[in-house]
Amino acid sequence: MTVDAHALDAVSIIAAKRDGAELTNEQIDYIIATYTAGEVAEEQMSALLMAIVWRGMTRREIARWTAAMIATGTRLVFAGLRRDSRQLPTVDKHSTGGVGDKITLPLGPLVASYGVAVPQLSGRGLGHTGGTLDKLESIAGWRADLSVEEMTNQLADVGAVVCAAGADLAPADRKIYALRDVTGTVESIPLIASSIMSKKIAEGTAALVLDVKVGSGAFMKNLDDATELARTMVELGADAGVATTALLTDMNTPLGRTAGNALEVAESLEVLAGGGPEDVVELTLALAREMLSLAGLPDIDPAENLRNGRAMDSWRAMIAGQGGDPDAALPVASERDVVVAPADGYVSRLDAMAVGRAAWLLGAGRATPGQPVQAEAGVQWHAGLGDRVQAGDPLFTLHTQTSERFPSARAALTGAVTVSEAAVPVAGRVVGRIS
Ligand code: URA
Repeated sequence: MTVDAHALDAVSIIAAKRDGAELTNEQIDYIIATYTAGEVAEEQMSALLMAIVWRGMTRREIARWTAAMIATGTRLVFAGLRRDSRQLPTVDKHSTGGVGDKITLPLGPLVASYGVAVPQLSGRGLGHTGGTLDKLESIAGWRADLSVEEMTNQLADVGAVVCAAGADLAPADRKIYALRDVTGTVESIPLIASSIMSKKIAEGTAALVLDVKVGSGAFMKNLDDATELARTMVELGADAGVATTALLTDMNTPLGRTAGNALEVAESLEVLAGGGPEDVVELTLALAREMLSLAGLPDIDPAENLRNGRAMDSWRAMIAGQGGDPDAALPVASERDVVVAPADGYVSRLDAMAVGRAAWLLGAGRATPGQPVQAEAGVQWHAGLGDRVQAGDPLFTLHTQTSERFPSARAALTGAVTVSEAAVPVAGRVVGRIS
């Protein structure tokens, strides 16, 4: 059968991609618009997505696919954002998701403390990586659902805001992502890049810093794939007029010392108070430097505002601005269990995926969208990579409201840690940069 590679109907578009052709701009616009409007069958879009997984897309196709998804909804505009008659630069950060990744919490207020607006539209967690909104919702009174007007006011007044992405932001992506999830078509760099960037570009930020995670606890398991994903997203940003830089960061080991909602808020507060785990501070400062540089402030040392309390002031204003009580005690788990070190030596491996799964099994994460999560649940590890331990020392504390979850969480942590006789060198978190 001969196929017209340029025809504007679903079957021809599927066949064209199946046979390795480049889709035209008109074909991409057509398929995204008609699928979002419910005029293309789910099985047809599934077939096209699978063809894209196998055949890939060119830079032009990916940029057009992204633009077409943005065009199905609204694009926010913060170009006129002002404070004291001064125009505010806007910069956001996006992480591809990792275990214990609470960086957004200290980072937004830190960057905002230098007079930059950080409009963060975030999501709820699914699976082994937690969602920023779930973490912040462990603070009494804090709410994620802001109107565009409330978000704009908070950006002008405080600079930092974290809120839920509205349904009208790239609705095509919402529908396509749900379909990819059940058709084995998530694992495609063009589809992941366009999905992430459609939401970030629609959010209206002028500049963006990406934290692309690589390792056992990340989407991208090796450096080559992470580099390709980062480069694709940086190009998409550039093509859409959003100045974009990416850091590639290690996610073989979970970040900091906690994974779980309230536990991660508590750890973020330590960072904002000038302390906190070394790797969380390192990554917060590295990302802050990139964001400040894109905002036109390349010479600032962001460590200063962690030391002098300005970042903490900015956090308090951000939480209070969204109805939260920054002084309220965080919820604490009613049930705890301890896993001890199996031998004397040095921690030479701490598997991010195992820790993420254990936190999820304890109730910190959800298996399907919409499920409730426990604010109190999670995992705390008492030794990080390179630390010395003795047999019988507490290695993990498991936190939950439901003790029947302990056996499966303990099972998930079996083999998660290697204790070696010799000390191991500990490298920094940042393993690459693409701009
Ligand atoms: N996150 C997204 O938003 N989209 C993807 O495709 C993968 C991760």
